[in-house]
Amino acid sequence: MSPLHVTRTLAEDATDAALRADVLAGLTATPKWLPPKWFYDARGSELFEKITRLPEYYPTRAEREILAARSDEIAAASGARTLVELGSGSSEKTRYLIDALTSLQAYVPVDVSESALVQAGHALIEERPGLEVHALIADFTAPLALPETPGPRMVAFLGGTIGNLLPAERADFLSSVRSLLSPGDSLLLGTDLVKDERVLVLAYNDMLGVTAAFDKNVLAVVNRELGADFDLDAFDHVALWDAEREWIEMRLRSRVAQTVKVPALDLAVHFAAGEDLRTEVSAKFREQGVAAELAKADLELTHWWTDAKGRFALSLSVAR
Ligand code: AVJ
Repeated sequence: MSPLHVTRTLAEDATDAALRADVLAGLTATPKWLPPKWFYDARGSELFEKITRLPEYYPTRAEREILAARSDEIAAASGARTLVELGSGSSEKTRYLIDALTSLQAYVPVDVSESALVQAGHALIEERPGLEVHALIADFTAPLALPETPGPRMVAFLGGTIGNLLPAERADFLSSVRSLLSPGDSLLLGTDLVKDERVLVLAYNDMLGVTAAFDKNVLAVVNRELGADFDLDAFDHVALWDAEREWIEMRLRSRVAQTVKVPALDLAVHFAAGEDLRTEVSAKFREQGVAAELAKADLELTHWWTDAKGRFALSLSVAR
């Protein structure tokens, strides 16, 4: 059986420095914000898994439906011998792709969570002996160095996570992905689509309050990591649709006037009653917009697949 290669490009203390920088920048800005990547500690990842099973949260099921129906077409179109998956997590939906990619020689899952990578890597190696698995512990928003594996390569970025980047961050991200590709390599991108506002808002504000707990979890992360004293009950979860920018925003709205201390940053942050802290943007897309953003990064959209209800899309684009 081939071994599992694990490479860490993320320094053990990089996370701490990045969290401090983000919290300082976001909590001293007007309006206040925090980047969504800090939701995902063990508790946040567990809450996200719960979200994906909620009746209101359709994207995970819609994307899985596309992968189940189209993996053979995706495999044939890409001809990939190496699959790189950014933000692979448990690699659960990726199984459809891996099973369909009959010429696959190497799988390169990239994630900040070492435990998720190792677990998923071992399971795969048992199922596909001979498949080389190079797990990369890395932040996919930072420049990546990929191992030397056979081409063509397909980079997969699933889940609609590209929507959590702001437009300028998206452009940077797509060009850095493009810089990893050679002519004939491809990008498989999952994007949630613009749809009825009520459907969108409910997906980010479920009946059981799981998304509210997920949203507030970022405050628990800042409390634990930076010694802050956020009272999670003093904030309300808010999800709203920005029709102009076509994105969902999640916010935490201060119920009262309050001051929060962040000792690790020597910071006191005042919230007015009703003041919002933006915790996530989740952009929704249209085919034309996706094609245009890809083209700007020198990627040509060649395939566009949606679920039967047209809620979510997978696109394949090629480097020329
Ligand atoms: C990480 C892109 C899958 O934006 O829909 C789910 C995260 N936030 N509910 C999304 C999320 C609130 C999610 N993705």
